[in-house]
Amino acid sequence: MLEAIAEEICACQRCPLGRGRLKAVPGDGPAHPKVMLIGEAPGHHENQQGRPFVGPAGQFLSELLAAARLRREDVFITNIVKCRPPGNRDPQPEEIEACGDFLSRQIAAIRPQMIVTLGRYSLGRFFPGQAISRIHGQPSTVGTATVFPMYHPAAALHQPTLRKTLLDDMAKLPGILALLEPRPAPPPPVEPPRQLNLF
Ligand code: URA
Repeated sequence: MLEAIAEEICACQRCPLGRGRLKAVPGDGPAHPKVMLIGEAPGHHENQQGRPFVGPAGQFLSELLAAARLRREDVFITNIVKCRPPGNRDPQPEEIEACGDFLSRQIAAIRPQMIVTLGRYSLGRFFPGQAISRIHGQPSTVGTATVFPMYHPAAALHQPTLRKTLLDDMAKLPGILALLEPRPAPPPPVEPPRQLNLF
């Protein structure tokens, strides 16, 4: 299911970002992780490699995950917008809208218990009009997931005082995850019927 969505994203021309990209960045991670992280949009390095958070902000994200005793391969990482906005400008409302259905389908396929929003665009998807400075680090239930808003890791690269805020917020995750009800494992893949050799 996730692969089919990724294929559609890689062929997408729903908005002008599709024409300017080198590679679309559908997202990376296991099919049914507990935790999904949603950033803003691919930058220069992500556009080159087709993978999310592989530049300097990604290095800090890996550090943050380590602070929560999580590895990158344990979580699914994606963005609100799947193609790089030119010059790393902010994503426009019509680009967010054009990509919105891909993200909804990824969330429905993954069914994460916890969604970590990184930055204000990702926050706006779940809590429109709320200020990140007011609600970062505070989990809330949205549908079947717990949504945990955080500043964007790149913000700490420009504003070093946010580094500690991000590390402190991330350090809360293991405690919050431990309180979540375990979900039943997804059904195993259906195996093709075996040929019976009776003779
Ligand atoms: N910033 C983001 O929001 N996403 C990326 O994939 C990289 C940097």
